[in-house]
Amino acid sequence: MAVLFGGRSGEHEVSLRSAASVAEALLPNHDVLCVRIGKDGGWRLLEGTRPSPHGGVPVFLAPSPDDGGRLRRLADAAELARPDVVFPVLHGTYGEDGTVQGLLELAGVPYVGAGVASSAASMDKEMMKALFARAGLAQVEYAVLRRRDATAEADLPARLGLPLFVKPVNLGSSVGIRKVKRAEDLGAAIEFAFRFDRKVIVERGVEAREIEVAVLGNDDPEASVPGEIVPDREFYDYDSKYDAASRTELRIPAPVPPELADELRRTAVAAFRAVDCAGCARVDFFLERTSGRVLVNEINTMPGFTSISMYPKLWAASGVPYPELLARLVDLAFERHAERARLQTDYRP
Ligand SMILES: Nc1ncnc2c1ncn2[C@@H]1O[C@H](COP(=O)(O)OP(=O)(O)O)[C@@H](O)[C@H]1O
Ligand SMILES: [Mg+2]
Repeated sequence: MAVLFGGRSGEHEVSLRSAASVAEALLPNHDVLCVRIGKDGGWRLLEGTRPSPHGGVPVFLAPSPDDGGRLRRLADAAELARPDVVFPVLHGTYGEDGTVQGLLELAGVPYVGAGVASSAASMDKEMMKALFARAGLAQVEYAVLRRRDATAEADLPARLGLPLFVKPVNLGSSVGIRKVKRAEDLGAAIEFAFRFDRKVIVERGVEAREIEVAVLGNDDPEASVPGEIVPDREFYDYDSKYDAASRTELRIPAPVPPELADELRRTAVAAFRAVDCAGCARVDFFLERTSGRVLVNEINTMPGFTSISMYPKLWAASGVPYPELLARLVDLAFERHAERARLQTDYRP
């Protein structure tokens, strides 16, 4: 078993923390190999079983099923290890977005979590929202801007109201996101978001409670109890997510009436299916205070996995302790791999 962590993304450090918890919990039942992807994109196989931010030997994995997913030394292609399954504990770009999943598919190695198309579509908020809309799920009103149509921004406050949320389309952990309360600040927020991506999304800001549901499974996914995030500031920004001084509170289970909890769980499974997800995902909702409506905000195909992260905590509260959760994810990876291996890849009429 190889735990892949780090990555070429703004969420590199978050991944380090998730991977530390994952590796530790897998140790009793697996030979754990730790492979760190640097911020420069290079892969390093570490000595020992602790995901560390330093050291390691540069390695690669060949995109060919003949090689069976061996980890080979970059310098001379010597075989160093051969993981039977890979757990990409990677968040954000070049990790959660289908790129690493594509390599693992080519290599023919089983891996935990969503496949290529689902990872890519879930990371791209424009595609994700289109798939949710197609499945009939309620969401906030929004507009997507590309650099060229940045001039179209002038009418957004009139169309979507204020405040607005401006986000890069392909990022996570609230990186690049700004809340805009005055129309005159919109241009700067859009420019800021364009630093991180070629597409920017502008959304109607809702006054809402933030509820999250964990989903686990392949073709027959199950939903956890809902949990609530109570940010300690105006919105759930990067610091409120990860700063040790953050007073952001997790309420598990979320204090909501049972019918609403059922609706949230059903909708979470519908969102998981809408993007054709596999393995795990955390589905995040807005519960609009004025209307009481449930709006889907987003799906995360590789949610935070530290022992204090929402995803594992929701499962623990739903009767699936952390080690069992990881064991199930590994089983689901093998199950999905076996299913794909059974499919015919050639066709002769
Ligand atoms: N349309 C919105 N209305 C109100 N708050 C929002 C809206 N969009 C984002 N937020 C706030 O910003 C946070 C991060 O936004 P989100 O879309 O979840 O980005 P990320 O993918 O980076 O987590 C949310 O958890 C919420 O607190
Ligand atoms: Mg979010």
